[in-house]
Amino acid sequence: MKKSLGARTVLYPLPVLLVGTYDDAGKPNIMTASWGGIVNSTPPMVAIGIRKERHTYTALDTTGEFTISFPSEENTHQADYCGLYSGKIADKCAELGLHDEKADIINAPIFEEFKACLLCKVKQKISLPTHDMFISEILDLRADENVLKDGKIDIERLAPILYDNISRAYYAVGKYLKPAYTEKRVENK
Ligand SMILES: Cc1cc2nc3c(=O)[nH]c(=O)nc-3n(C[C@H](O)[C@H](O)[C@H](O)COP(=O)(O)O)c2cc1C
Repeated sequence: MKKSLGARTVLYPLPVLLVGTYDDAGKPNIMTASWGGIVNSTPPMVAIGIRKERHTYTALDTTGEFTISFPSEENTHQADYCGLYSGKIADKCAELGLHDEKADIINAPIFEEFKACLLCKVKQKISLPTHDMFISEILDLRADENVLKDGKIDIERLAPILYDNISRAYYAVGKYLKPAYTEKRVENK
């Protein structure tokens, strides 16, 4: 018999997303978000849950455009830092020595230090009791050459990190198991 642990925000795996924006003064900012995921295939869409008090929230409302960078294992300390201090009081990009460049197709920063990112445009905002959900179109995926294999992102080269909100800790992605979409149906006799 399973033990009830109550209504909890638990889902496996929780991503570590770095949401990059420009604020109304044009200053780059970056925050960590784990409340996020893919919500549509065509067009490609992602949703992120952001609290109203975040500096990022105001920037999302103002520009409607953002990047999502995927931190690699070597970026774990930067990912944690971006989730601890607000752009309202800290210049996180300067403090971490991040190098940003404005994306060509949206008004949002692409960071040199992270090996892959999505370029996103907000399409709809849904207010929920604690967070607002920004449902957004993914306009492009950008990645450094050194994480590509046959022109596609290789998960082992990117080495993205995950968040466990029960132990409040970051994890690396686990081992390879098997190819997907390969199971043969066993029909009833
Ligand atoms: C692992 C982790 C995940 C987080 N996920 C979210 C999230 O999904 N939504 C959110 O509003 N805040 C989240 N936070 C908190 C923000 O990242 C944090 O408050 C940050 O300082 C906000 O930055 P900003 O004010 O510059 O936007 C998370 C923090 C950590 C460490």
